[in-house]
Amino acid sequence: MKVNRLIFAALWVLLGVQVQAQNTDKAEMDAYINELMGRMTLQEKIGQLNLITPGGGIPTGSAVSTGVESKLKDGLVGGIFGVSSPEKVRQTQELAVEESRLGIPVLVGSDVIHGYKTTFPIPLGLASSWDMELIEKTARVAAKEATADGIFWNFSPMVDIARDPRWGRIAEGAGEDPFLGSEIAKAMVRGYQGDDLTSPNTMMATVKHFALYGASEAGRDYNTTDMSRIRMFNEYLPPYKAAIDAGVGSVMSSFNDVDGIPASGNKWLLTDLLRDQWGFDGFVVSDYTSVNEMIAHGMGDLQAVSALSLKAGLDMDMVGEGFLTTLEKSLKEGKITEDEIELACRRVLEAKYKLGLFEDPYRYADDSRPKKDILTKANRQVAREAAARSFVLLKNEMHTLPLSQSGSIALVGPLANDKNNMLGTWAPTGNPQLSIPVLEGMENVGGRKVKVRYAKGANISDDVEFAKKVNVFGTRIDIDKRSAEEMLNEALELAEQSDVVVAVIGEATEMSGESANRTDITLPESQKKLVRALAKTGKPLVLVMMSGRPMAIGEEYELATSLLQVWHPGVEAGNAIADVLFGAYNPSGKLTATFPHNVGQIPVHYRMKNTGRPQDGDTFMKFKSNYLDAPNSPLFAFGYGLSYTDFDYGKPVFSQTKLKGNESLKVSVDITNTGNFDGEEVVQLYTRDLVASVTRPVKELKGFQKVALKRGETKTVTFELTAEDLAFYNFNLEFRWEPGDFEIMVGPSSDNVQSAVVSWEK
Ligand code: BGC
Repeated sequence: MKVNRLIFAALWVLLGVQVQAQNTDKAEMDAYINELMGRMTLQEKIGQLNLITPGGGIPTGSAVSTGVESKLKDGLVGGIFGVSSPEKVRQTQELAVEESRLGIPVLVGSDVIHGYKTTFPIPLGLASSWDMELIEKTARVAAKEATADGIFWNFSPMVDIARDPRWGRIAEGAGEDPFLGSEIAKAMVRGYQGDDLTSPNTMMATVKHFALYGASEAGRDYNTTDMSRIRMFNEYLPPYKAAIDAGVGSVMSSFNDVDGIPASGNKWLLTDLLRDQWGFDGFVVSDYTSVNEMIAHGMGDLQAVSALSLKAGLDMDMVGEGFLTTLEKSLKEGKITEDEIELACRRVLEAKYKLGLFEDPYRYADDSRPKKDILTKANRQVAREAAARSFVLLKNEMHTLPLSQSGSIALVGPLANDKNNMLGTWAPTGNPQLSIPVLEGMENVGGRKVKVRYAKGANISDDVEFAKKVNVFGTRIDIDKRSAEEMLNEALELAEQSDVVVAVIGEATEMSGESANRTDITLPESQKKLVRALAKTGKPLVLVMMSGRPMAIGEEYELATSLLQVWHPGVEAGNAIADVLFGAYNPSGKLTATFPHNVGQIPVHYRMKNTGRPQDGDTFMKFKSNYLDAPNSPLFAFGYGLSYTDFDYGKPVFSQTKLKGNESLKVSVDITNTGNFDGEEVVQLYTRDLVASVTRPVKELKGFQKVALKRGETKTVTFELTAEDLAFYNFNLEFRWEPGDFEIMVGPSSDNVQSAVVSWEK
């Protein structure tokens, strides 16, 4: 142990400090950090603002850090990512703690987006469970595994509202709705951070990408965003705020611009809103080289954009090193102040203090943990349940599902016996080879009486150039040596010999995610041909659809007998799919992002406003708001999803229809399971503000409950609304409710509700 550690230890004794994350005594923390900063040089302070990566993760920007070891020793690093395992994290930490002048530990971060090594479904899939306890649990397991591997700072949750399925990163978030998105943001922060950040099992969360990243124009990643403040506040900002209210430790600024200024250099966003209005007291990290990228945005050279970012309220610079290399110069030239550097440095040190790093920098470097905590049977079981609960049944004619556990099944499709595409996008810490292919799952769950035979049938895509772009992290689209005809014939022969066909089709993992946008969101032609040919056999056709986005699958919907949307299900993919196909679990997911008929409808989402010329229904009417060549309604609406059983909704009962001020409204509805299976239903409550000072959406989700009902069982589901629930940001961006009439709607999906109007006066 070096002298500086001794000094620290002595200081602790002197101050008698007990480090306890959530109840950290602010005065004690301030005293500790004041003392420490009093000993730091300017260069060391700037060093704390530097986040580096030796390149172990996914290098998404143009740079990877160099000279990592010497920077650590020189105290020029505040945090690092792309390093994992207790041993490597300890070695890294040792360089900082034992070898740098002041021995300040570094933050060790990572992108743990949907599970660490036990990969859960992609976030859009998890969201479709509408199960907050489950989502929290997956984040909890992820935190336990990641911290066992030395990582204690997570670049998740991603809470960007996304209404454009062309955008590949729609896979990484909760979908289109601010209310649901906010609930999920809170659940994830709770799951990652727990109630004690100093616990060796919890990690600091980062809400990202602040802000509006999901609104990139044309669904093209990193593109411009532009929207009115009223839309921002009512529709896009709520999930970030929810994460902040839930105590998230850090915020990541986004790549895009906000009102003409890139987020990483936007003072209105990072200071006026985030800190002054919302009271955020953690630190802000940039996205990967997003400070440097402001040069391309036309905001000046590296020195200028770095100064702009610091002044805007950005505390840590991810990989780009503009802070490290230019801030001293800017200070000398009077372009920034020492106070601004100090403030950012203090915020980074505070995060370290809250994590308990000064007390024990090695608390996350315990060699005995990976074996005990990572990829355990119990964790894989959570992954299996989470996956099953994330699936959305979109069609089930003639009750084809669940499948009988006898007879013969033709299991076909390019994703039916595949390990490379089960984990989904942004799962760099997971190992695809550990995932369960669908064929294996069907064999595990099907039992001895059912004969499952497999044929690939088609490539994911036959397009070699397309495959090259998708295969950047390994082979995801594997173009077979056999001809398309040969594969198709094999599948058709198998189909003819079988009782039922199950086709596992859709997108490869890297067809969604970062920098994986599509202008055509239909199935690739190779698979369309397969589905058409299979449908012609006349056998019952179950389509299991994997994708990282809502797809335009109208034709497949028509041709299929049953259609199950499974997203990218994670490491237990095959088992979970088999559980659902054979009925061990009755699907209960509901869509959280609208499925359009075609890209021309985009953006299409349920929370639309009315026009002055609304069209009632889908029958074309001249001079109404509509299309000549497509309906207004989407293929599948937000909130839609079926079950193997049937749920009957009674008439909603309202506690009163005339309310005053702070009275509350109770809305109750009886749900009866009238079908042949036990099941779960997501009951949804929507409101509409009929007259207001600004135009309001035709529907807004304000509540949901997931209830389990045995066959024949009835349960009463009750929602309680207060006037506060009706509040919105008005023209002056004041968050208020306005008295008047409100339509209150209850139902199984956004396009299937029963309603009544209540009046609510001051
Ligand atoms: C992504 C972030 C991610 C970061 C670090 C960026 O390209 O936008 O979501 O956290 O890389 O890996």
